[in-house]
Amino acid sequence: MADISINFAGIKSPNPFWLASGPLTNTAYQVMEAFDLGWGGAVWKTVGIPIVNVYSRYGGLNYHGSRLVGLNNNELITDRSFEENYKEIYQVKKKYPKNALLVSLMFETKQEWKEHVKRAIDSGADGLELNFGCPHGMCERGMGSVVGQEPKVLKEVTGWVMEYSTVPVLVKLTPNISDIRDPGKAAQEVGAHGVSLINTIKSIMEIDLDTFSPVPSVDGKGTNGGYCGPAVKPIALHMVGSLSRMPGWKTLISGIGGVQTWRDAVEFILLGATSVQVCTAAMHYGFRIVEELNQGLSDYMDQKGFKSIEEFRGKAVKNFVEWGNLNLNYRVKAEINPKKCIECQLCVAACDAGGHQCIHTQENGSRVPYVDQEACIGCNLCSLVCPVEECITMKEIDLGKPYLTWKEYQKTAV
Ligand SMILES: Cc1cc2nc3c(=O)[nH]c(=O)nc-3n(C[C@H](O)[C@H](O)[C@H](O)COP(=O)(O)O)c2cc1C
Ligand code: SF4
Ligand code: SF4
Repeated sequence: MADISINFAGIKSPNPFWLASGPLTNTAYQVMEAFDLGWGGAVWKTVGIPIVNVYSRYGGLNYHGSRLVGLNNNELITDRSFEENYKEIYQVKKKYPKNALLVSLMFETKQEWKEHVKRAIDSGADGLELNFGCPHGMCERGMGSVVGQEPKVLKEVTGWVMEYSTVPVLVKLTPNISDIRDPGKAAQEVGAHGVSLINTIKSIMEIDLDTFSPVPSVDGKGTNGGYCGPAVKPIALHMVGSLSRMPGWKTLISGIGGVQTWRDAVEFILLGATSVQVCTAAMHYGFRIVEELNQGLSDYMDQKGFKSIEEFRGKAVKNFVEWGNLNLNYRVKAEINPKKCIECQLCVAACDAGGHQCIHTQENGSRVPYVDQEACIGCNLCSLVCPVEECITMKEIDLGKPYLTWKEYQKTAV
C-alpha cells in the first residue's frame, strides 16, 4: 500500500491533509475530533490581538441546485484570548504528537511577533503560518493582505519571525494581487520554509434586491468578504502552478483553495504542493470527508504505482507552459456518439452561438445532430454543454506535422 505520509520541511504528517486556519481549527475540541477522524494536520485559527466579530459572517453561492459552490466570509481572526488558545494548542499537541499542528499568527509590531512566536512554539507548535492573506478587517488595520500585497513588508515581517522561530515558517499568501510570483519570490528570498496559498479572494457575494444591502448583511450594510470553496480552485491551482514553474523555485508549498475531493488534492500535488489544506468543504460536509480523501489518494497512488507522495509531486509542472509554447499543429475535432445522444439540442444552440456554427440537425428528420468536421475548430464548447458523459468527445486528428510553437512560427513567418 502507498505511503501517504509527508515531511514538510521537518513537519511530519501521517497524510497531506491539513485543516486550513479558520472556523474548523478554533478549539481543541474541533482539532482533536478531526485528528481522531484522520486529518493529518491542522493550522490553528489565526492568533492575534483578540478582535470583535460581526453577525452575520457568511454568504453562499448556490448554483443550479448545488449549495455552497462558493463561500464568502467577513470573519476576522480568533476572538479568543491568548491564554485559551495557547492552553488548547498545548493540549492538542500533547495528545496527538504524530499529527502536524501549525499555528497561524498575525501581529503588527516586531515586539508582538517576538512574544507570540515564542508562545506558540512553547505551546508545542510544529510550525508557524504567517497570515498575510486576510482580505477584510485586518488589512484596514495594517495587517493581513496588506502585508502580503507588499513584498518588501512581507520580507521584513517574515524576517523577524525567521529570526525568532525555531520551527519551520510558512508564509500564507493572498491571491488579491496581480502577480503571485512577487510575494512568492519575497518569501523565498527571506528563507521561509514554505508558502501556503491561497487565502480568500476579495468579493461581494450578492446584493439583496429588496434591501439593497450586500450579503451577508450586517444591519443593512455589507463589506467585501473573502471568497473560497470549490469555485476558487482554478485560481488557486494557477497560483500554485505559477510558483512551482518559476525558475529557481524551491520553497515548499501548502496548496489551498476549493479542495473537496481526493482528485482536487492530487491536482494540487501534481502542481507541486506537498500538503493540501481544506476549509470550506469540511465546513460544508464535516470532518469525515477526510476518510474519502485518504482512501482516494491511497487508491490513486496504488493504481499508478506511486509508493510515496514525493514520487509524483510536481509531475504536472513541466506541462504548464506559456501560451507561446503550445503546439499550433495539434488538432482535435468534436465527434457525437449517436447511441448516447438524448437529442436535447444543447450542442446545436451552443455551437451556433459561441462555436463555429458547425453542429447541424440531420436532413432525415433525426434529432441526433452531426458535426461538420471541416468547419469544426475544436473549441470543446459542445462537449462541455452536452449533459451526457462521453457523448461528445474530442478526437485527435494527426496532421503529420511537427510540434510548432508560436515562437517558432513567428521565426518562420518573418
Ligand atoms: C470563515 C472563514 C474564516 C477563515 N479564517 C481564516 C483565518 O483566521 N486565518 C487564515 O489564515 N485563513 C482563514 N480563512 C481562509 C482559509 O484558511 C482558506 O485559505 C480559504 O478558505 C480557502 O480554502 P477553501 O477553499 O478550502 O475554503 C478563513 C476562511 C473562512 C471560510
Ligand atoms: S468543438 Fe466547437 S466548433 Fe467544434 S462542433 Fe463543438 S462547439 Fe462547434
Ligand atoms: S448536447 Fe449531447 S445529448 Fe444533446 S443533442 Fe447534443 S450530442 Fe445529443
